[in-house]
Amino acid sequence: MNRSDLGIGFIGAGEISILHARALKEIDGAHLVGLWNRSEQRAIQRAREEGCKRYATPDELVNDPDVDAVLVMTNLETHLEYAELAMNAGKDVLVEKPLCATVGEVEQMKRTAVASGKICMPGHNMIHEESLKRAKKIIENGDIGDIVSCYVMYNIQHSEERASTLPGVVRHILTHNLYTMMYLAGRPVRVQAFKANRHYEKLDQEDITLVNVELENGGLAHLCASFAADDLSPAPWTFTVKVIGTAGTTHYTYNDWVEVKQGISHSHTYTAYQETITNEVRHFVELCRSRSGQPLSDLEDAIWAQKTTEAVEKSIADGLSVEVK
Ligand SMILES: NC(=O)c1ccc[n+]([C@@H]2O[C@H](COP(=O)([O-])OP(=O)(O)OC[C@H]3O[C@@H](n4cnc5c(N)ncnc54)[C@H](O)[C@@H]3O)[C@@H](O)[C@H]2O)c1
Repeated sequence: MNRSDLGIGFIGAGEISILHARALKEIDGAHLVGLWNRSEQRAIQRAREEGCKRYATPDELVNDPDVDAVLVMTNLETHLEYAELAMNAGKDVLVEKPLCATVGEVEQMKRTAVASGKICMPGHNMIHEESLKRAKKIIENGDIGDIVSCYVMYNIQHSEERASTLPGVVRHILTHNLYTMMYLAGRPVRVQAFKANRHYEKLDQEDITLVNVELENGGLAHLCASFAADDLSPAPWTFTVKVIGTAGTTHYTYNDWVEVKQGISHSHTYTAYQETITNEVRHFVELCRSRSGQPLSDLEDAIWAQKTTEAVEKSIADGLSVEVK
């Protein structure tokens, strides 16, 4: 361990912290210093697994001079509190998605980032893939013409037990579809959405949502976020992104890399998933070390993702199409 490395602290040490810890082991120039978790038993277990410090409080973590930057990985309702705690203590932050519970909270997080001069990067991991960067480049160059349609489809079954620790898929998964769509095809102006529960027996929340979107550029998008079932077809929409233009198409799928071993919450290991987290954390570390560059998807994108989520919820509740503004 080298002190010129970036020291990282974890606030929240649930399931996703396992992937972030694996990411840090792959990255030169950064290491995990320690973690805090609300439940002490889990904190003891995770600190032992990672061979890192365990802090008694989040304050102790953010005030440790060995910690330069913090990953906020608690439930979404507490992201603002811990991100602000870290930034006000002079630490850069990577905040897991969805960034916050309301648009106002994400705006507040942005104000704190500006006032403190600290990096506040949304945990928008799915776009941290070389083939999606290439897709963005050819779309921006105009090589596939005008965007006709964009599809971002997520179909990965999650057990009711795992889902019971998370909000429904509108809050938990759709953010991934939204920032990916915005990265490639631009901002939404109107949405129409539906949701259903097809496999939970006790949980009173949706396990699937489908959303149709009118885009600012005049094209249309279709998004699916589902914990209800795996897609076992020959060309599965496990996590699939497609942009069709008037002069070409781009396509990306998790199913190009599948390992026959159980993932943390998935029936298989989708190799690209860990890779997106590793690439995202590497990008964060580079921003922190170089003090230059930008997140691939920033706080303004997170504000728009949250505005769109709230429009989707209104569309579902009222049975109408809803403007995103
Ligand atoms: N980027 C991704 O692909 C991805 C995947 C899974 C989860 N996540 C996000 O990561 C975060 C954590 O999810 P997880 O899968 O690790 O869930 P988890 O249920 O395994 O862990 C939740 C964590 O939140 C903590 N927590 C819950 N309520 C709290 C409170 N009131 N105060 C402080 N801590 C509290 C728990 O102690 C635990 O550390 C969530 O924001 C989630 O949306 C992102």
